[in-house]
Amino acid sequence: MDILAQLSTEHEYLRALLAHIESAAEAGDVAALTQSLEQAHNALATELDAHIATEEAETFAAIASALGDDLVAPFRADHAEIRATRDEVYERLGRGEAPFEASQRLCALLLSHQLREDLMLFPSAREAVSS
Ligand SMILES: [Fe+2]
Ligand SMILES: [Fe+2]
Repeated sequence: MDILAQLSTEHEYLRALLAHIESAAEAGDVAALTQSLEQAHNALATELDAHIATEEAETFAAIASALGDDLVAPFRADHAEIRATRDEVYERLGRGEAPFEASQRLCALLLSHQLREDLMLFPSAREAVSS
């Protein structure tokens, strides 16, 4: 499997976990939100950091050199915002709060970012490589 397909597969895996977090946060269900965030902790911490590191070190660098840095700059900015929001969610959870609003923000940020990678950035990268 090529690296872009691997990254998109990781998106799908994370999306399944985000669906639980999003519905628990929307419902204002403290127990379900806590459980879904605990269940997704590794995926949103270690695994998400590794995913972002791979994108930035391998994919974005190649896309930037082929198509210009302007194309990838917004995606790097998203990564910083996603990680800051992820940290906020787990800090609040650690303090015993139910981070409904921050969780919804995190899900929205991640879903929109993944969609733009899958539908725009990665296809552009494939085209740049094949041409
Ligand atoms: Fe990304
Ligand atoms: Fe990604």
